[in-house]
Amino acid sequence: MRLFSSLCLVLLAFLGAVSAKSAVGDRLLVVLEDESQKALYSKFWTDLEARDFKLSFESPRTEGLSLFRHGQLAYEHLLLTPPKSKGYGPSLTPKVILDYVNAGGNVLLGLSSQASTPSAISSLLLELDISLPQDKSSVVVDHFNHDTTSAAEKHDVLLLNRPEQLRSDVSNFFGGDGTLAVPRAVGQTLGNASPLLAPILKAPVTAYAYNPKEEAETVEETFATGSQLSLISALQARNSARFTVLGSLEMLQDKWFDSSVKTASGTSGKTVNQEFAKQLTEWTFKEVGVLKVFSVQHRQVSVTSKPSENTTQIGEYNPEIYRIKNDVEYSIEIGQYDGTHYVPFSFPSNDALQLEFTMLSPFHRIPLSPTSTTANSTIFSTTFTTPDQHGIFAFKVTYKRPFLTGIEEKHQVTVRHFAHDEWPRSWAISGAWPWIGGLWSVIAGFVLFVLLWLYCEPPKEELERRRKLSVSNVK
Ligand SMILES: *[C@@H]1O[C@H](CO)[C@@H](O)[C@H](O)[C@H]1NC(C)=O
Ligand SMILES: *[C@@H]1O[C@H](CO)[C@@H](O)[C@H](O)[C@H]1NC(C)=O
Repeated sequence: MRLFSSLCLVLLAFLGAVSAKSAVGDRLLVVLEDESQKALYSKFWTDLEARDFKLSFESPRTEGLSLFRHGQLAYEHLLLTPPKSKGYGPSLTPKVILDYVNAGGNVLLGLSSQASTPSAISSLLLELDISLPQDKSSVVVDHFNHDTTSAAEKHDVLLLNRPEQLRSDVSNFFGGDGTLAVPRAVGQTLGNASPLLAPILKAPVTAYAYNPKEEAETVEETFATGSQLSLISALQARNSARFTVLGSLEMLQDKWFDSSVKTASGTSGKTVNQEFAKQLTEWTFKEVGVLKVFSVQHRQVSVTSKPSENTTQIGEYNPEIYRIKNDVEYSIEIGQYDGTHYVPFSFPSNDALQLEFTMLSPFHRIPLSPTSTTANSTIFSTTFTTPDQHGIFAFKVTYKRPFLTGIEEKHQVTVRHFAHDEWPRSWAISGAWPWIGGLWSVIAGFVLFVLLWLYCEPPKEELERRRKLSVSNVK
């Protein structure tokens, strides 16, 4: 039995060593209806396989195709290519895809203006606040930023710089130099109400969406223009599952991976689509931008009510109860996944990680600062005094940023009031001395008076005089 368990351990360690680069798993389902399309993306598949992904290619018509097995995800990642027919069929309905995302699955949805997007998918995207043009064959064109080699006439192969730093260092997952070719893209517009949505690549200001099949001389009502149009959009659900809408699946084809392109102004060069495809899938399939909380600790660091005693009393870790006006230390250990393992996390200087001490609403909201690092994480901590209010409180850390998985930690504690023996004694308070003095002087005076009254005899002559008085009265 012992041997067996140690064998299991060795096996587990071995499995851990060869595990996928993605933080969540390596099974990727590619839904591809047309087998002949597969060869067009051979470099893309090779790149994914080189990063340890186990690719399964299935047609949406495959019997028994399911994203779930025994109630668990059958694949952690899903790549949807545009279907040839009207939709993906009964095994990939919008509801199934939403359930999949709710269960934590990551989706890369590739669109193409050549194949019209199924209306079920359009309405699914609409639920996520991403709108596609009504016009199914709409394509994004730009008369100033197109490739003059391959789209001299149609102007529908856009040449763009890679997105600039979306945010400083932590989530710059798509940046870099070089030119991207975005052929025949379906533009999307994003609702501005959802904090979960963010564009990855926006169209240039001179771009617009238009339907080449309409033989109109001028474009009257465009779906959207300029940077309103998003060519690639990202949605990170509340459970941190990722959903990327790629407006032009074609840009992942081998021929665009390092093709020579020539801008309208005459400069020519190679595209960096291959590297960008890697960045895009790294983010979507959770190889980057994944944060993990390793531990949360809080404890009492001093007793402030008894100044006469030694005031540095360190409490146990994570007690269930504190008292009002306790000094409390809170620390949280956060690591960031870097493709193979977790490394210490740091946020840019213009950002903050905050701790809230709340009962219905926060009584404290204080920044946490990095105090030490371990091999896999940074420890952020702070010290504060519990408020003068008893009740059920919670330590809360919420950190949600675009392109990073969210952190939401909540630990509930009770805050009690002072016990009767925890107040300082009256004589310890110097302000009370006049009253204590007054009280005790009255008591001492009274006792003195009683003693005097009881034990002091009146003088002899006085007694004589009283006796005489009473005798004469009787006569
Ligand atoms: C209070 O306790 C700490 C730790 O036990 C000790 O280092 C310190 O010297 C003590 N201070 C006093 C005033 O007794
Ligand atoms: C922690 O860091 C070490 C050394 O960098 C690494 O070998 C290990 O896999 C990391 N652990 C986790 C959980 O990422």
